Amino acid sequence: MGKLRIAVLTGAGVSAESGLGTYRDNGGLWDNYDPMEVASIDGWYRNRKLVLDFYNMQRARLKDVLPNDAHRMIASLEDRADVSVITQNVDNLHERAGSTKVIHLHGEVTKVRPESGVYDDSFSEREVFDIGYEDVNLGDKAPNGSQLRPHIVFFGEAVPKLEKAVEEVEKADIVLIVGTSLQVYPAASLYRYARPDARIYIIDPADVPLREPRIVHIKDVATSGMRKFLEELSK
Ligand code: OAD
Repeated sequence: MGKLRIAVLTGAGVSAESGLGTYRDNGGLWDNYDPMEVASIDGWYRNRKLVLDFYNMQRARLKDVLPNDAHRMIASLEDRADVSVITQNVDNLHERAGSTKVIHLHGEVTKVRPESGVYDDSFSEREVFDIGYEDVNLGDKAPNGSQLRPHIVFFGEAVPKLEKAVEEVEKADIVLIVGTSLQVYPAASLYRYARPDARIYIIDPADVPLREPRIVHIKDVATSGMRKFLEELSK
């Protein structure tokens, strides 16, 4: 028998215990900011400075936080399985916890790319630069002379890594969903690509909108939920 394959689909909830707020919980980011202003492609063209400042703030916050036990337990799954992490998060906490195969569906806040570059997953990753935790300002230019923009999939843009993510879910024996409200498509529909015989777990302290009988809901926060999941896996 081949190695167990696990596809882990994560959202902001996995980083909540690191101190990064989620988007849609009470007091979440979208209570204080309008996503259509700060995180959409139309918002970018309306007011680039507002969008740059929003992601400068996200980058600065990320600098001060650490991966938590949930990120670490997800990384440790690689000891016993072929794991691919598909995250909606733009933070780098999965990588910092040691996960080696991470697909960032919605981009990465520590990276930038030229506004006018044609970004598509197959060839233009070379236009993407690591900026670490630095600010990006109006007038900061890429080598091709165009304004730098956050390497984020804005609302209204395509999700170039979707196909890769679908492939990983289709191969998985276990699909583990952690800390996402499953409100944003197409990420929210990824689990539907799971094989009919795959097991699906979801770790979230809130009620979940999924009704398929084969889905096991571990109703808990990410850290203690992951501990329960690991116990379940060892049975
Ligand atoms: P949401 O804020 O929509 O959902 C966060 C989920 O985490 C909710 O289901 C919470 O119940 C759960 N949660 C809260 N605390 C938790 C904890 N300690 N442990 C585990 N779960 C917890 O965040 P996402 O689903 O990630 O996209 O949002 C999806 C996308 O919407 C984001 O990637 C972002 C946003 O707009 C872009 O900006 C492109």
